[in-house]
Amino acid sequence: MNVDLENQVALVTGGAKGIGKAISKLLAANGARVAIVDIDLDTAEETVAGLRESGGEALAIEGDVSRSGQMEPAVERIVEEWGKLSILVNNAGINTLGGRVPIHEFREEDWNRILEVDLTGVYVVSKAAVPALLRNRGGRIVNISSVAGLVPLRLQSAFVAAKAGVVNLTRSMALELGSHGILVNAVAPGSTLTRGTKKLFYGADGVYTENAASLLAHIPLGRPAETREIAWSVLFLVSPEASYINGAVLTVDGGWTAGYTRDW
Ligand SMILES: NC(=O)c1ccc[n+]([C@@H]2O[C@H](COP(=O)([O-])OP(=O)(O)OC[C@H]3O[C@@H](n4cnc5c(N)ncnc54)[C@H](O)[C@@H]3O)[C@@H](O)[C@H]2O)c1
Repeated sequence: MNVDLENQVALVTGGAKGIGKAISKLLAANGARVAIVDIDLDTAEETVAGLRESGGEALAIEGDVSRSGQMEPAVERIVEEWGKLSILVNNAGINTLGGRVPIHEFREEDWNRILEVDLTGVYVVSKAAVPALLRNRGGRIVNISSVAGLVPLRLQSAFVAAKAGVVNLTRSMALELGSHGILVNAVAPGSTLTRGTKKLFYGADGVYTENAASLLAHIPLGRPAETREIAWSVLFLVSPEASYINGAVLTVDGGWTAGYTRDW
């Protein structure tokens, strides 16, 4: 899929690795200048070097999405460098820190940190970026939620709560910003293969673990997503062609959330 993102300037949080890296590559390949804001500067710089080698214009900025004192200067730097900001992808996220445990065993510090990055981070970065999008007289915001924000999962209460928050925050932002030409949508990925999730899916023998097989049995497509399959949906939502889509939540989950069970 090719779209025209010439003259667009994008900020992708958590763009160093995983889904954010795939999004950054695709936006750059379609003509956008891409700033990756990530807590892991070394990896962000490696990713940016790869984007530049492929002919893209890119910038790595170190920052934690939960810290407004870091996000405001990050946005200023992008505008200084390229004159504007027109696309924001709130992708950075974390999941289980202290293992998968029920709510009465969930450590308070883990709960707080997951909410701080996955939900408050979307607010913090948006608050820093929206003034630049308003000065641009329009733009696009895509928030990365999760299927876990639509249907609850056990043993990940903080992630589930944060990602459900992102869904309604997206709709609320769409209501507030639509009249300014800023369209706000969410993508809810299903299980997606990244370096981190590969370990959950595949055992040492290279075949799906029992857990993964049981999860995949509930997904009509019977496989996890590739990172680029999530990135394509983001590319569509920021494309000129998605000009009437605002406040939508696009599930990219192989049918996971289409229904509870397929047989009766
Ligand atoms: N992989 C999946 O199966 C899956 C499924 C549903 C939703 N998601 C969501 O997609 C997004 C990307 O996930 P991923 O699997 O690619 O993760 P990942 O761990 O592979 O990459 C996350 C990136 O975010 C960065 N990051 C983490 N905390 C940060 C912070 N506080 N500030 C700035 N950067 C930070 C990391 O350094 C990393 O580069 C997340 O929001 C995640 O919740 C992932």
